Parts: sequence; C-alpha cells; structure tokens
Amino acid sequence: MARIVCTFALPAEAADLLRPLGEVAGPDGWRGELADAEALVCVLTDRVDAELLAVAPNLRIVANAVAGYEHVDREACRARGVVVTNTPDVLTDATADVAFALILGTLRGVSSAERSLRGGGFGGWRFDGYLGADLAGRTLGIYGMGRIGQAVARRAAPFGMRVIYHSRSRLDPSAEAETGARWVAWDELLSSSDVLSLHAPLTPDTRHVLDRNALRRMRRGAFLINTARGPLVDEAALVDALRDGHLAGAGLDVYERDPVVHPGLLELPNVMLLPHIGSATTETRHRMAMLAARNVEAVLSGQPPLTPVS
Ligand code: DGY
Repeated sequence: MARIVCTFALPAEAADLLRPLGEVAGPDGWRGELADAEALVCVLTDRVDAELLAVAPNLRIVANAVAGYEHVDREACRARGVVVTNTPDVLTDATADVAFALILGTLRGVSSAERSLRGGGFGGWRFDGYLGADLAGRTLGIYGMGRIGQAVARRAAPFGMRVIYHSRSRLDPSAEAETGARWVAWDELLSSSDVLSLHAPLTPDTRHVLDRNALRRMRRGAFLINTARGPLVDEAALVDALRDGHLAGAGLDVYERDPVVHPGLLELPNVMLLPHIGSATTETRHRMAMLAARNVEAVLSGQPPLTPVS
C-alpha cells in the first residue's frame, strides 16, 4: 500500500478519498514519514526542495492544495520525475471576493472607521466625518489577467468602474468584451489606474514589479490592492509612498515576508490589512483539498494528473 503524507489536517471527505489508495500519514511529524511516501499533499508554507526530495526517494507526486507553487522547486521535481499539481479555478471566486472587499474597504476607509468606533471615536454623524472615495467613475487597473484578474474585472462593472489591464498575454476580443476590460501597456496601467489590483503569480520576473520607481509612476492619490503575493511589491517603498501621500491607501492580504507585516504598514491608518484569507471559505478549502486528493488518486493509479503545473 502506498504511503500518502499530508502536511495539514485534510477535510474528512478528501481523507476518505485517499484512504483506499494508501495509508494517510501526518500532519504531526509529517517530515519523518517521507522515507517511503509516494505522495505528498502540501500547502504554500511547506518548502519542497531538493533536500526534501532526497529523503523521499519513492515520491511520485507533490499535490499542492493551493494555486501558487513558488514554494516548490519544480526543476528538482522534474529531475526526479515527480509530478507537481496545484488547485487552479476552485479558488477564483473566493479570492476575487476578497480583492473586492479590499477595494471597497480601502476606498471607504472601513477598517479605520471601525477602529475609530471601537476606540470610542464615534461622536455621532458629521457632515465631514469618515469621508472615503467613490468607486463609481474610477478606473480599476488589473495586473495579471488570469482567472482571478478576470473575476475581479467582472465584479467592477456593476460598481460603475472602468477596467483596464496589463498581462503577459492579451485576452481574446470576446473575453475582453465579456469582462469589460481594455488592455494597456504597463506604463499606462501605472499612470491611469485609480485603483491598481495585483493578480500575477510570483516569478523571478514579477518579484518587486512594483518597486520604488513603479510605485512613484502610479497616479498620485491611487490605491494599491494586493491579494496575489507579497513580494510583488517593495513593501518599504510602499510604506514611504503611503506616508508621504503619493498613494492614498492600500489593501493587502499578502506580505513581502509573510507572515511578518512591515511595522510601517501597521501604523498607517489608510491601510486595510488581512491575514492571507483570499481562499479561506469552508467551501473553497473543501474544493481545494478534494482537487489535491483527486490529483493524488490519478497519479497513484497511473493516470495523468487533473491539474498539473506546467
Ligand atoms: C493560493 O492558493 O496560492 C492562495 O494564495 C491560497 O489562498
């Protein structure tokens, strides 16, 4: 019987799917279970590198129960013939919802208004109290127009926002029409977006794509939203741009040194901070676990994986 090692507590239905295939070990002491493991089910906080592969000589699949896979050394897996899979699609809506919650929350100052009320600062309605910014009439810029970027674009139209995007590849005309989004060059995305929302994966090309220089080229008074990966943004430069008022606010679900949050961000009132909850709904996490389990089932039964990482 195969040994399947899981680094986190699998939902019951996913564990039930795996049990007929082999003995499911973990999450406690999962590293010690790798010696005869044929499958590893893991998440983004588990580093899968050559060192880990060396102690798992029988491994056939690394089934990520998340969409991102920058924590997996794919070259080392390829060299060892280990299949790598992820869970695209099933978390698109949940993550787009959180991006939109951050857009709404940041433009309307929801977090700081609530903090004020809880701190006894609400002294009654005032004409000039708690003023935020309208979404309607503003331009939403999307960087990375994959599934999640497109889902965010679809949510923006009913709020009266114009949508522009920049992506490695351009959508076909019917998808552009359906999402209501117009492709623009990177420079135009920076200079024309009132709200810039990031939806690109973390790769060597996208690390610090919003460095100090790019942040300065953003429109004065714009808002930055990041539900993708923290290292897309130079966080120290972001703090400076927020402090000196070049940017009006930021809504973040991910951090450059996740889970450590830059202390400057914690001090700023015009920033809404979430603890990486993009895909955190019960239904979505269930779908993510089931898809990871189905990938393991496919590979251990000699079938092609459902969602291999290319
Ligand atoms: C992912 O799947 O990569 C997400 O960041 C988890 O929420």
